[in-house]
Amino acid sequence: MTPKELCSRVRVIPVLVVEELAHAVPMARALAGGGLSVLEVTLRSACALDAIRAMREVVPEATVGAGTVLTPADVQACEAAGAQFAVSPGATPALLDAVEEAGLPLLPGAATPTDIMALAARGYDTLKFFPAEAAGGVAMLKALSGPLPGIAFCPTGGISPANAMDYLALPNVLCVGGSWVVPKDAVARGDWSRVAELAHEASLLG
Ligand code: 3PG
Repeated sequence: MTPKELCSRVRVIPVLVVEELAHAVPMARALAGGGLSVLEVTLRSACALDAIRAMREVVPEATVGAGTVLTPADVQACEAAGAQFAVSPGATPALLDAVEEAGLPLLPGAATPTDIMALAARGYDTLKFFPAEAAGGVAMLKALSGPLPGIAFCPTGGISPANAMDYLALPNVLCVGGSWVVPKDAVARGDWSRVAELAHEASLLG
C-alpha cells in the first residue's frame, strides 16, 4: 500500500508512545474497533518494536507502522518487527535509501518548500507536515498548495479535536496525525473504552 493510499483510508492516524508492552494489544484493538485502523507506533519507548510485533500478530484489522524512524538501523529494526510503513519527522538521504532498499512505504516529514521539493524530486507525493502547528499550521498548508500542487499532507504536531477540522477541510490534506486519541490518564487506568470512544469521534471528523 502506498503512503497516499494509507492516508486516504482514515481521517486520523493515532501517534502512539507505548510505554508498557501489555498495553499494545488492547490499545490497538480499541483504536481499530473505534474506527482508526492505521496506527503509528513511535520508536520512543523501550518496548516499541515488541509493541509493533504484538499488534501485528494479534490485531490483524490494524495497519501498523513505526514512527520516529530516524536512521537506516531504525528501518531495519521496524521492518523486522513487522511494521507495514514508516513515518519520520524529516528525511535524510541515508534514511530514504534505507526505506527504498527495504521496500517499506515511508511518510516522510517536511516543513518547508525546500524539504517538500527535495522529497517530490525523489518521488514522494504524500508527506507528513511536521511540526504542523509550530511550522505555520493551516495558513502554511494553504500557502504551499499554490506553488506545490500535487503534494498531499498528513499534518501532525499540535493537532487536537479543536483544530483537526480546519486541517481536514484543506484540499491538500488527506488525514491528520495526533496523540490526543490515546490520553495518558486513560492508558494508566486501562480505560480502553475511553480510547475507543475518542477513536470513534476522531473517525467521524471531516
Ligand atoms: C509526535 O511526533 O509526537 C506527533 O507529532 C504527535 O504530536 P501531538 O502529541 O501534538 O499530537
